[in-house]
Amino acid sequence: MNQAKEQWASRAGFIFAAVGSAIGLGNIWRYPYVAYENGGGAFLIPYFFALLTAGIPILLLEYSLGHRFKGSAPLTYRRLSKKFEWLGWWQALLAFAISTYYMIILGWALSYTYFSFGTQWGKDTEKFFLNNYLGITDSFWNIGGIQWKVLIPVFLLWAFIYFVMRQQAHKGIERLTKILMPILIVMMIIITIRGVSLSGASAGLNVLLTPDFGALSDFKVWIAAYSQIFFSLSIGYATMLTYSSYLSKDTDLSNSGLIAALGNSGFEFMAALGVFGALGYLATQQGIGVDEVATGGVGLAFIVFPKIINQFPGLNDLFGVLFFGSLVFAGLTSIVSLLEPGVAAIRDKFNISRNAAVNTIVGGSAFVSILYATKGGLNYLDVIDHFLNNYGLLIGGFFMTVATAWFAKEANNMRAHINNVSDVHIGSWWIICVKYLTPALLLVMAGLNIIDEFKAPYGGFPYSGLISMGWGALFATLIGGFLLQAARWKEEDSISGKIKEGA
Ligand code: TRP
Repeated sequence: MNQAKEQWASRAGFIFAAVGSAIGLGNIWRYPYVAYENGGGAFLIPYFFALLTAGIPILLLEYSLGHRFKGSAPLTYRRLSKKFEWLGWWQALLAFAISTYYMIILGWALSYTYFSFGTQWGKDTEKFFLNNYLGITDSFWNIGGIQWKVLIPVFLLWAFIYFVMRQQAHKGIERLTKILMPILIVMMIIITIRGVSLSGASAGLNVLLTPDFGALSDFKVWIAAYSQIFFSLSIGYATMLTYSSYLSKDTDLSNSGLIAALGNSGFEFMAALGVFGALGYLATQQGIGVDEVATGGVGLAFIVFPKIINQFPGLNDLFGVLFFGSLVFAGLTSIVSLLEPGVAAIRDKFNISRNAAVNTIVGGSAFVSILYATKGGLNYLDVIDHFLNNYGLLIGGFFMTVATAWFAKEANNMRAHINNVSDVHIGSWWIICVKYLTPALLLVMAGLNIIDEFKAPYGGFPYSGLISMGWGALFATLIGGFLLQAARWKEEDSISGKIKEGA
């Protein structure tokens, strides 16, 4: 019954699951608008800098922690250093919290896959999305009751994910990703080829790729690059740690890490070309600039894309289905990776069966997701996402490196562990990153972010909402982490026995 018994059927299965986790909403709708808002072509510089100084080092750190200590996040950190069990809980709770609204966006995408038949959103795509579909209320605290058009698709997806998660990881998650990822990649290649070959596509590609080097002196651009890398690579929330704890003893780690990192960035870049090609087409059709059609955030996928599909020269419905279907597929293989850290964690600590753990985690997340399926839901989603992603990831990543390198003083051992099992050996650059560079950069980013937070209320939302929901969610997960650390381990003896074995 112990989770350590779970194991991927093959290394390919693990890589599929890891890439499936990484490639998600973050790649298809987040990357294009983040890159666009932060210097276009010049954004590639901070992006690659963030990939090399934080993305790959932390990815390898997570892999090696999970692989060496063979446990869920709380158990792994506890084995690393008794004081740090809370960090594992915090990360698993953050992943859980994100799953509650990540599924909502998948629900929207599923609805829009259906709306694509006969382009049911009509001409005014903004009004359709905000008023007809979401039924958005006029003020933050007006919750407005349940929006069934959102809740029903979301619960259909929950039912499916529940069924997947009930099975052991190598049967549920591994099979899901092995089936969906190849289909997704083919869909995305078709979208990209069609996107860049539309007339006027070059106008969009120019906007995406023309470097604005002036942006590089703005620290916000660098923060955006770090947040994007963390979110996109699925690091900092114990996903990769949990997944690598299911690996067999001698699996190559650095090679798998590079495949995942390059595959993820490659996919992201490809998707951005397709999306911006299509934006260029829309702008050319309407005779306006690309900056006038491109909006940031949620709008890009659910307001601007339907507009593009309306204008498509042919096969409109098919391209709608391809685009929104690809969001659903990419998201399904990611949401399982947001739920699994929690499942593994409570199985380890409370010694319960997989089924009982899945009932708690998936059931709990589905219950909380009802909050965002209300008419005010979009506001709550926006605020909570801003706080969890801007702070949780950076601060969690900071503590990860500090716990390993400074408290447990295990950086050298972790490197030796990776090099023992891997063909590609990692050099002392990794130690420099994990010990000095990465934590220093993450701390500076988080600090600058906090200063910015107090300059103006995020998104113009009322402070009451930002404090209760935004800061509230962040602190609730942190306090939850300490409370769960304080709870008693079931079968304490065998766990402490394993701590010695693992170390
Ligand atoms: N990487 C996913 C995306 O791009 C989201 C995601 C899944 C994630 N698991 C994660 C983000 C763990 C951070 C941590 O959409």
